[in-house]
Amino acid sequence: MKHLIDPMDLSVKEIDDILNLALDIIDNKEKYSNVCKGKKLATLFFEPSTRTRLSFEAAMMELGGNVLGFSSAASSSSSKGESVGDTVKIVSCYADIIAMRHFKEGAPMLASMKSDVPIINAGDGGHNHPTQTLTDLLTIKREKGRLSNLTIGLCGDLMFGRTVHSLIKALSRYEGIEFILISPDELKIPDYIRTEVIEKNNITYREVTSMEDVIGELDILYMTRVQRERFFNEADYIRLKDSYILDNSKLVTAKSDLSILHPLPRVNEIAVEVDDDPRACYFKQALNGKFVRMALIMTLLGLEA
Ligand code: CP
Repeated sequence: MKHLIDPMDLSVKEIDDILNLALDIIDNKEKYSNVCKGKKLATLFFEPSTRTRLSFEAAMMELGGNVLGFSSAASSSSSKGESVGDTVKIVSCYADIIAMRHFKEGAPMLASMKSDVPIINAGDGGHNHPTQTLTDLLTIKREKGRLSNLTIGLCGDLMFGRTVHSLIKALSRYEGIEFILISPDELKIPDYIRTEVIEKNNITYREVTSMEDVIGELDILYMTRVQRERFFNEADYIRLKDSYILDNSKLVTAKSDLSILHPLPRVNEIAVEVDDDPRACYFKQALNGKFVRMALIMTLLGLEA
C-alpha cells in the first residue's frame, strides 16, 4: 500500500507515469468512466478548501466511484477531541482511499501510520501540498511540453506557501532548472528548502525582492498568496499582503511565451485584467488538478482502464 504524503514519495518515473495517465484521461474520458465503480474516496478536510476537495470529489465521480467526508473540523468528531489517528482508523473502515487536509504539519503522515487504506496529503499546514505539485507539473508539461530546462520565478509568500515548497522539491530532480525566488525579506524560502533541496541538488538560484527586475528572464511565473492564516499577527500580514501585484503593465517586459501559474485562491496578487492575457494559465491549472487527481487515485488503488 502506497501513500502520498510528500512529493518525494514519488520517483520521477512515477510522476511521469501519473502525468501521462492524466493526459490519456483528458483525451479518452469515456474509457475511464467506470474504473472506480464500487470504490469510495473519503475527503477529510480539517481546513478550508475549494479546489482540492471539490476536484478530488469530481475526480472520483468521473471515475465512477463514490465520495464521503467532511469539509471542516467543526463538523467532525475532532471537535469533541477525537485524535487524527482514531479518525483515520475509523474512516479507513468506510472508504478505499482518503484525501486529508490538516492545519497541523505532519498530520497526514501520522494518519498514514494508522490507516488501512492509502492516505493522500491534500495540504498540511505550511509544509507540503503534493497533489498541487502534480497539478502544477501537469500544467507546465501541457504548456511548455517539458519539465526540464526552465527558468521558474516563484513569487510571494515563499516562507509559508506549501505549494512552493512541494514544487521546488519535485522540480529539483529535473535537468536544467533555475529558480528565481522573489519575496520580501520576511517571507523568504525556509532554510531547509534552500540548503537541503536547492543547494544539495546544485540547482542555480537567486533570491530577489523585485519582480519587475527579473520578469523578462522567466519561462514560468508562479505567483502565490500571502498566507494570512499562518501569520502570528495581523499587522505583519497587512504590511506584507500586497508586496506583489501582477498587472498588465508589469507583463510588458515578460516573454511572449511566459506561463503564469497560481495555485489559487488569489487575493490581490494578480489583477483581474491579467485573466484575459493568453499567458495566464491559472484557471487551466485548476482544471488540470481534477485530471491529475483522477490519475493519482487510479495509481494508488492499483487500477487500470
Ligand atoms: N490550491 C488549493 O489548494 O486551493 P484550495 O485551498 O481551494 O483547495
